[in-house]
Amino acid sequence: MKVLICYFSGTGNTRRVVNKYADCLKQKEVDVDVYKIEDVLYNSNQWPVNFDEYDMVGIGYPVHAFNAPSIVIDFVKHMSKQTNEHKAFIINTSGEPLKLNNISSIKIRKLLKKRNYEVTNEFHYCMPYNIIFRHTDLMAYKMWNYAESLIPMDCDTLLSGNKTKLGYVPMGRPLACIFRVEHWGGRVNGKRYKVSENCIKCQMCVKICPTHNITIENGEFKFGKNCLMCMRCAHLCSRDAIKIGWFNKWKVNGTYNFQKPTEEEENKHKRYCKKAYERYFTDCERRLGLLKNDKQKK
Ligand SMILES: Cc1cc2nc3c(=O)[nH]c(=O)nc-3n(C[C@H](O)[C@H](O)[C@H](O)COP(=O)(O)O)c2cc1C
Repeated sequence: MKVLICYFSGTGNTRRVVNKYADCLKQKEVDVDVYKIEDVLYNSNQWPVNFDEYDMVGIGYPVHAFNAPSIVIDFVKHMSKQTNEHKAFIINTSGEPLKLNNISSIKIRKLLKKRNYEVTNEFHYCMPYNIIFRHTDLMAYKMWNYAESLIPMDCDTLLSGNKTKLGYVPMGRPLACIFRVEHWGGRVNGKRYKVSENCIKCQMCVKICPTHNITIENGEFKFGKNCLMCMRCAHLCSRDAIKIGWFNKWKVNGTYNFQKPTEEEENKHKRYCKKAYERYFTDCERRLGLLKNDKQKK
């Protein structure tokens, strides 16, 4: 069996999840190819993917304003129509376990259907926020630990042919459509990005921007109109020197290390995290069979 996974990841969470999928599938003797969507769309002169070669195609993305990022939608629009029905699956990550996030796949499913793909499975994992607020190392570790443990099970489900779908909230379709204003808003806000005096002109942001939206003209950084609001530049800047326009108060700088922390760290959002994530963690434990009699905790 040959599986292709094409993904976009702004700050690495989705990449981590997709790589785990690839490893697990390879262990199950599946032939897996993984492509970064930005490489296919922007960094190659020719379309390097021959979708006909694959028995299944997976699309991976982070949820942005309850939608898939515009780069992912553009990618699916570029996919050729299959003559025979092909199988597809979706993998997404989001900062919160909100049911509303599930509407992010509506557009992708519709586009895939038009191209004669049946989406048989959809998998979602909570990963730490890359905007709004920084999670503690313990929260980041817990989220990744559950995702990492669930992925082998989800790979089994995928290969078994059992279909899975995430439930939508009522009015999901119009809501997703309304929230897609973020694609436009992100581009407008992206033009308001600025670099602060902390900048050492290492030009890392220029090199890593997925849409090549950051350039230097006459020694000044210019932010163009193709920002995806993926946060990669601001998140990875070693000097925390990028100001992200209207959302600067929500900036999260610096990668998560996903290791189990050795020291206790104060969680400034403790009450919120308890309310927002406890049910998700309990569901993960239940799925992993760790809550057989609800007293057994991980
Ligand atoms: C512009 C933007 C919008 C986001 N919108 C949502 C959202 O609607 N719901 C949510 O739970 N998380 C949201 N997030 C958080 C990301 O989905 C989450 O942190 C994800 O794991 C990031 O993945 P990545 O590192 O692969 O980019 C948003 C992040 C960004 C940057």
